[in-house]
Amino acid sequence: MLDLLYPLLRPLLFSMGADKAHDAMMSVLGAAPRSLGALASIGTAMPAASMARDAFGVRLAGPVGLAAGLDKDGVAVPFWPRLGFGFIEIGTVTQHAQPGNPKPRMFRIVEDNALVNRAGFNNAGSAALATRLERLKARGLWPDIPVGVNVGKSKVTPLEEATEDYVTSIRRLEGLADYFTVNVSSPNTPGLRDLQGSEFLAELLTSAVEAAGDTSVLLKLAPDLSDEALAEAVEVAAQSGAGGIIATNTTITRDALTRDPGEAGGMSGRPLWSLARQKIGVALEAADGRIPVVGVGGIHSAEQVQELLSAGCVAVQVYSAMIFEGPGLISRLNRQLR
Ligand SMILES: Cc1cc2nc3c(=O)[nH]c(=O)nc-3n(C[C@H](O)[C@H](O)[C@H](O)COP(=O)(O)O)c2cc1C
Repeated sequence: MLDLLYPLLRPLLFSMGADKAHDAMMSVLGAAPRSLGALASIGTAMPAASMARDAFGVRLAGPVGLAAGLDKDGVAVPFWPRLGFGFIEIGTVTQHAQPGNPKPRMFRIVEDNALVNRAGFNNAGSAALATRLERLKARGLWPDIPVGVNVGKSKVTPLEEATEDYVTSIRRLEGLADYFTVNVSSPNTPGLRDLQGSEFLAELLTSAVEAAGDTSVLLKLAPDLSDEALAEAVEVAAQSGAGGIIATNTTITRDALTRDPGEAGGMSGRPLWSLARQKIGVALEAADGRIPVVGVGGIHSAEQVQELLSAGCVAVQVYSAMIFEGPGLISRLNRQLR
């Protein structure tokens, strides 16, 4: 069904700016996530039972997950599983509601199948998300695949008080998330990536792990860290009781693009693959089997998913490729991976 619909929908969406197209899609999905999910699932290949796996304390229905940032406020949680995802990650949410950066803040580089964004964690705040997730649970609408919540720092919170910001969100969402991700790798919150340094990271992760109780806390890292700094961050994560690593977030580099749009922000999509792939390798080596690694960055084919799983990743996540190839991509990946 989606393979038939998206070729018709894409020209319309791509005739709008990326921000407008995203907002339009999210308001439609948020208005009727269940009915649209039922429609989307017609003909969709769900992950085969043999593709399920245990990771960071949960049972992933399949290896392909939704990456953070597409559904920051979790408005379409009942919709995403119907596309064939094995798990989904909502957020980034922050302690305080915040508008994000002024628009336009999202740009397509169509010839490269790439995006540049500087959204800046626009979200309604972790209290609002907790209320929404509670309601979903109360109404029996919680998906039967894991839902992770990605947590970041509010822009107004000084870096020295970052831990409290993360911990407040985690406490509010305790019992409502199947796993948490501590995001210290977005390039769009000033100073955030400094939190990837060992000393602060150890404090942040130890507090986050404690606040999360029995729920796993994953750490999401940037591809712009040197190999040494990345390996060190993975080491800190392993020693602080983190449940896993997500590598990688978007990059501030532009060399892999054929056309630089000249906009500040993080780049994602196909041209991110070779950098992300290399850094995922570094993360796997540093983790050395002690904690699982989720691979993300430029994934658009079953060959890439297979390559990462064979290299030792427990699962992968996808965002940008869905914008260019349509939401039927996940079903196609499931079919080819079977
Ligand atoms: C528009 C946009 C917004 C994003 N927002 C977030 C976010 O809020 N938190 C986060 O951890 N990652 C965010 N990401 C990064 C993605 O989760 C992913 O790590 C990155 O895009 C690389 O994967 P991809 O090439 O499949 O898109 C965002 C990406 C895009 C394109």
